[in-house]
Amino acid sequence: MRKLHVNLGKNSYDIVFERGLLSDVGRYIKRDGKKLCVITDDNVAAVYADKVVSSLEKAGYTVSLCVLPHGEKTKAFDTLPGVYSKLIEDKITRKDALVALGGGVIGDLCGFVAATYLRGIGFIQIPTSLLAQVDSSIGGKVAVDMPEGKNLVGAFYQPETVLIDADALNTLSPEFFTDGMAEVIKYGCIKDKKLFAELDACGGKEGLLPVIDDVIYRCCDIKREVVEKDEKDKGDRMLLNFGHTYGHALEKYYGFEKLSHGNAVAVGMCQICGIAEKKGLTEKGTAVRIAEVCKKYGLPVNDCAPAKEVIKGIVNDKKNMGDKLVAVLLKEIGESYLYSTTAEFFD
Ligand code: GLY
Repeated sequence: MRKLHVNLGKNSYDIVFERGLLSDVGRYIKRDGKKLCVITDDNVAAVYADKVVSSLEKAGYTVSLCVLPHGEKTKAFDTLPGVYSKLIEDKITRKDALVALGGGVIGDLCGFVAATYLRGIGFIQIPTSLLAQVDSSIGGKVAVDMPEGKNLVGAFYQPETVLIDADALNTLSPEFFTDGMAEVIKYGCIKDKKLFAELDACGGKEGLLPVIDDVIYRCCDIKREVVEKDEKDKGDRMLLNFGHTYGHALEKYYGFEKLSHGNAVAVGMCQICGIAEKKGLTEKGTAVRIAEVCKKYGLPVNDCAPAKEVIKGIVNDKKNMGDKLVAVLLKEIGESYLYSTTAEFFD
């Protein structure tokens, strides 16, 4: 078992890494409240719900289960009333806690419910997708989507603990693994040239799997360090959005259906580096190097959507309300910085 401690004062918590922990999860959750509600989706429930519920019951908890349909649509604001009603029906009190068992959609939604139900109750993150294990389960960004855009209603609300079982990746469909790889590559780009070189040298998923535990741990450690410095996303935490500005706009252009988050971020990383190289803001050849690694993991590196139309979405992005835009650029692989500009940067 390995652990990382996220030091956020009274909101501090551990990230626990252990293969097989999903079957014995009750051992890792120690709290006074005796009721837990596990929030998950139908895909994850089919594989893990029985295991997790029975392990929690064995540890002495009374457990209820809330199974939602899989997919981004579940993260809609409209899903919330049904979940709150279920918690009221199950008599979940302030002493009790929610367990987010699933990928980023479930983690973000469950965290938002935890932040708001009874003015805030505890929650535990058990991420089962690569993207959630390396990124969304850590750092306390919780949110739901509005028809106008993703994550527009949310909070900073830290989990009580994050439990990561890399065995869960064995049941993850290949396209979701690929999706998570965009965030893994992102960490190499913004903070760790050694990690980037390792991802390159592994040559693809097969080569990476033998070292995936170390890679997940390294990504979480980078995220820990960034979040500890800037929990509320006012400075350094924005570096985690490398490739996301154009990426989000691209997802939005396609109505959040055609292109997954990871695929859009991969295109966004290559795109912004290409532009920054031309402006002399990034070392030449960086975009090509990122594209090569993305391709090794099955990620797209460009898209035929008309850039002018995509950029319209950037202007309305929540992080860029108004004229100003903070672009995340690379000086070179492994070294990132924030650059104040406007949406014209992408023209
Ligand atoms: N996924 C970006 C962040 O947590 O800040």
